[in-house]
Amino acid sequence: MSDVQELSRDSQSTAKMAKITFVEHDGTRHDVEGEIGSTVMETALRNQIGGIVAECGGACTCATCLVHVDDAWAEKVGKPSAEEEDMLDFAFEVKPTSRLSCQIKVTEALDGLVVHTPSYQGR
Ligand code: FES
Repeated sequence: MSDVQELSRDSQSTAKMAKITFVEHDGTRHDVEGEIGSTVMETALRNQIGGIVAECGGACTCATCLVHVDDAWAEKVGKPSAEEEDMLDFAFEVKPTSRLSCQIKVTEALDGLVVHTPSYQGR
């Protein structure tokens, strides 16, 4: 194995993770690890979190990956882009802290993030 291959393998096995808690509408909590650089939506699907449909696969065209960012995290997560804001108009149960989870990148700064999933992903 070359040095480059070995380095590549090492970086894959030590991918940095951030803790993310999903709270379902019935209060069920899921504490999972999200890979830095992936999205909150991808983390939800990988961990079979109920309430995240993600029909468009992260293209910001379906609004079925809606989450409500916990109030304590809303500022750190930030506001939606104009494109995301337009898609939020098609979502169900939208609140001031609602975001499309495919548009939230998992970063080290979001380690410990808490998001709530809605009871229904409508369009
Ligand atoms: Fe479709 Fe997020 S997965 S808008």
